[in-house]
Amino acid sequence: MKFFIDTANLDQIKEANELGILDGVTTNPSLMAKEGIKGEAAIMAHYKTICELVDGDISAEVISTEFNAIVEEGKKLADIHPNIVVKVPMIKDGIKAIKWFSDNGIRTNCTLVFSAGQAILAAKAGATYLSPFIGRIDDSNWDGVELISQISHIYSIQGYKTEILAASIRNALHIVKCAEAGADVCTCPLDSILGLLKHPLTDIGLAKFLEDAKKTQ
Ligand code: G3P
Repeated sequence: MKFFIDTANLDQIKEANELGILDGVTTNPSLMAKEGIKGEAAIMAHYKTICELVDGDISAEVISTEFNAIVEEGKKLADIHPNIVVKVPMIKDGIKAIKWFSDNGIRTNCTLVFSAGQAILAAKAGATYLSPFIGRIDDSNWDGVELISQISHIYSIQGYKTEILAASIRNALHIVKCAEAGADVCTCPLDSILGLLKHPLTDIGLAKFLEDAKKTQ
């Protein structure tokens, strides 16, 4: 399973990248706004900076919702860097645009996915990645990881090539469960990635080893 970081914060991207396990970055308009990035030029420049920091796929989301506008915006985003993946919402014009991008060699990430039916449509349209939002599904009292399992099963028996990119990750256990459920990629906040490191027995064991090491100096 590939690891992406789900943020537009450059310090967090650098910290995750320095771990050596980072395969890419996903952003969305809310994450860009959180960093105070404002205006088309600043947004484009920020994506370029991220592409220069991380050697992997970088999702940049369109804010248009009409076919022609999505295509024009997506083409501009894709021109920033070869690693840009155009993130397109799961709406009717979004599906049409994903098909257009797929036919024209531009890679896509279909976002705001909450059902297996949506996952089938995105795969048929040729999406490179599919982003089911598992945390938001959990928040609405359904099982987000179960959706990853269902989509993974469908894609496997139907031979769909679209990669399942588990998004809206809230904790380290989500990452483990998504790996078990067959996600191809997990995009995570830095805290959830660092959460994978944690085990109290590791801390207790290391303290004991370091204590005993003093006896050998
Ligand atoms: O990038 C999309 C997704 O990861 C959003 O997560 O935490 O806002 O539900 P969240």
